[in-house]
Amino acid sequence: MARLTAETVAQARELMSLYPDSRSALVPICHLAQAQEGWLNPEAMEHIAEIMELTPAEVLGTASFYEMLRTEPVGRYMVSVCTNIACLLNGGYELLEHAEERLDISVGATTPDGMFTIEEAECIAYCDRAPCLQVNHRFFGPVSDERFDTLVEDLASGRLDDDVPPHGVLCRVRREGGLAVPAEQVRAERAAADQARDERAAAAQAERS
Ligand code: FES
Repeated sequence: MARLTAETVAQARELMSLYPDSRSALVPICHLAQAQEGWLNPEAMEHIAEIMELTPAEVLGTASFYEMLRTEPVGRYMVSVCTNIACLLNGGYELLEHAEERLDISVGATTPDGMFTIEEAECIAYCDRAPCLQVNHRFFGPVSDERFDTLVEDLASGRLDDDVPPHGVLCRVRREGGLAVPAEQVRAERAAADQARDERAAAAQAERS
């Protein structure tokens, strides 16, 4: 378990400066923190609360609401097998059973080496490739039993490292050099826009009265 790294803290502060209410950055900051270890551990959530001047309970309350944020450890690869209607009709449940058998774990569990977690998923909007699945939100389909076995071997061997980063990493391309404009300029422009809006409202009110 770990608190946020200095780099993550800097990115978090940058995100907070983008919103009129810094609290709006909570979800993207949770994703940043999740990218560190693949899940949101309690220390990371406490650190987020500290930075954002929230309570740890508020961070946990938000994080536990969203399916993509995990407050329990998961494997390096989260395998989400769709069993919704198109996939169900094309062997989604059979694929899920095969996944359990191949990885020797039940749905919701993680392999002892920490590599794979399986979950049953609702429609992942890849219906024309049924039966399909996601690994860390990257799409694969249609997936036969043989294709699944190859996929597992490729992931375990690192052959897919360029396509499927570890769980929690949503984006590997980051803006270089922070904000394109200084945070003070963002704040000044926001204040000017607020003032202009208040003046328009006051003028409209004066016209009506
Ligand atoms: S039903 Fe499986 S992706 Fe839509």
